[in-house]
Amino acid sequence: MAVEYITAIEPGVAAVPRLAARGVTVGYGDRTVIDALDVTIPPGVVTTIIGPNGCGKSTLLRTLTRLLKPTSGSVVLDGEDIARLKTRDVARKLGLLPQSPVAPEGLTVADLVARGRHPHQSWLRQWSSDDVSVVERALALTGVSDLADRPVDSLSGGQRQRAWISMTLAQGTDLLLLDEPTTYLDLAHAIDVLDLVDDLHESGCTVVMVLHDLNLATRYSDNLIVMKAGSVLAQGHPRDVVTPELLHEAFGLRAQVVEDPVGDRPLIVPIGRTHVPGLAD
Ligand SMILES: Nc1ncnc2c1ncn2[C@@H]1O[C@H](COP(=O)(O)OP(=O)(O)O)[C@@H](O)[C@H]1O
Ligand SMILES: [Mg+2]
Repeated sequence: MAVEYITAIEPGVAAVPRLAARGVTVGYGDRTVIDALDVTIPPGVVTTIIGPNGCGKSTLLRTLTRLLKPTSGSVVLDGEDIARLKTRDVARKLGLLPQSPVAPEGLTVADLVARGRHPHQSWLRQWSSDDVSVVERALALTGVSDLADRPVDSLSGGQRQRAWISMTLAQGTDLLLLDEPTTYLDLAHAIDVLDLVDDLHESGCTVVMVLHDLNLATRYSDNLIVMKAGSVLAQGHPRDVVTPELLHEAFGLRAQVVEDPVGDRPLIVPIGRTHVPGLAD
């Protein structure tokens, strides 16, 4: 039987969610991946979704951003059924960094990031100096200004990832969903990106991420959603949620949970086959 780990997030966090899935069932073809799932994304908080490969994290993110249509249930964005909103209105409210995005061949970084401004343009409102400054700021924040004229497909994995994050930021939304934003990044660059996420959070953004690295997830989020096989196993503050029992149940991982010497978060120390004297199997 699944253990109930669902706990309250930090006191004082407003209860009205930015985004919520209500009884969402979704999959591909006739295969259901997520069945009757409920989840709420609190405002102004960094929420990180963790869970084993293939458990449905990207599927959930795609559903929350209306890229996938649930077969039953609904997604509510700022109090409105997302299915009733226009694509442009969704894009003005939320920015999505998909997992492993692919840019059209030869597209430059500057052009990619400029595409983030499309939801703000129309035949009445063309490219403006405001758009130029938003794009320049997005390029600078992600450290890719020097790469602006390079084709995206000529960049290293880490540079490319930062260019895509820049495009997402150029959308100028205060709700960001980032599917594995640190993939391909070495630890120093991953920390840079997550510090940027933290700055965005400080400036009032609501962020939902998928991360693979559990210790980065506990360090950089105030709300964890732990998934397994298309269901939410636990949700809450990392201090309340991360236990050896949960890690074993979610990932089949044997680990110790100790206090992080840097900060006040739990630190996960995997055991694996390591021989630890005195440690019971
Ligand atoms: N485009 C797709 N078509 C068919 N099946 C898919 C597709 N994308 C993902 N799946 C399947 O859905 C399940 C969940 O995948 P996904 O949401 O990508 O997991 P995660 O992001 O947690 O690794 C997996 O079994 C995967 O094979
Ligand atoms: Mg995924």
